[in-house]
Amino acid sequence: MGTRFVGWGMAVPDKIVTNDDLSKTLETSDEWISERTGIRQRHIGGTTTELGTLAGRRAMEDANVKPEDIDFVILATTTPDRMAPSTAALIQAELGLTCPALDVNAACAGFPYAVRVAQGLIETGTKRILLIGAETLSRWVDWTDRNVAVLLADGAGATVMEYSETENDIRSFVLGASGVDADLLTCDHGSYFFMDGKEVFRRAVRVVVDSASEAIQKAGITPADISLMIPHQANIRIIQAASERLGIPMENAVITLDRYGNTSSASIPMAFWHARDEGRVKKGEYALMTGFGAGMTWASSVLKWSM
Ligand code: UT7
Repeated sequence: MGTRFVGWGMAVPDKIVTNDDLSKTLETSDEWISERTGIRQRHIGGTTTELGTLAGRRAMEDANVKPEDIDFVILATTTPDRMAPSTAALIQAELGLTCPALDVNAACAGFPYAVRVAQGLIETGTKRILLIGAETLSRWVDWTDRNVAVLLADGAGATVMEYSETENDIRSFVLGASGVDADLLTCDHGSYFFMDGKEVFRRAVRVVVDSASEAIQKAGITPADISLMIPHQANIRIIQAASERLGIPMENAVITLDRYGNTSSASIPMAFWHARDEGRVKKGEYALMTGFGAGMTWASSVLKWSM
């Protein structure tokens, strides 16, 4: 018995902001942003509820399930629409669900953290869960601060997870947090995101490599068995450094940050959606998802596709 992923969805706002658009108002350039980060454009707009609802509906359609089939909805987000209620509750209403609803905030590691929570619920009797990662980071960006404005963006991704008598897609998990590093990447009430980019970069590579190595070992496989790496989409150089140190070729990594920038909790499920859409999710093969972010938090998990 175990947990299976049975459907995927994603959504982004219509408005695209290119690097050239940003360089009209900020002292930056397309050359700097694309060379240092890999980002070329991002989508901006909407609310977390709107984007999460759209991605969630698409995942439910993809899984061919109706509102009454969903027993729990979990939203991973760093940018809830209100302090209370949870944005998961707002999405629950929009989707016509009647199940429990819960927000999870583990910043850019939010999606794998939420998968771990969902797995625990499924192992203890919950049958089917709609799990969404949705963010509207642009509302918490100081658009005159080039350190952050060129990176963060909006979007949502979603999946349906369900109990299976015969299959188990989740093979290992390694989660961590280091609250003493809270001020490296932070956003206070009524304020904007602040990031010590250099330090976050250094730590990100270290925690991704350490947690991913441990997750691979726990799953009883080697890096050579990983055919798909689905990393949090913060910076192409972080992904390249991790890929090199882990010994997982860059061709196996899913890269979407060129189109969407850093969408925090949404980046991993959006990358999953693209991987599946491009036919890269293959039955019987292993995938690694890995994320890190404000907290600091980090999470790596090895998955094996059953469908
Ligand atoms: O998702 C959560 C986690 N977040 C992350 O993972 C982000 C981690 N950090 C990063 O991705 C990178 O550190 C940044 C993209 C934020 C910065 O890249 P970097 O290669 O570390 O650049 P830097 O901070 O060392 O800055 C290099 C130069 C500096 O100029 P000088 O001192 O060499 O003259 C900066 O002032 O680039 C300058 N600079 C910029 N120039 C144009 C910094 N930001 C910009 C900018 N446009 N947006």
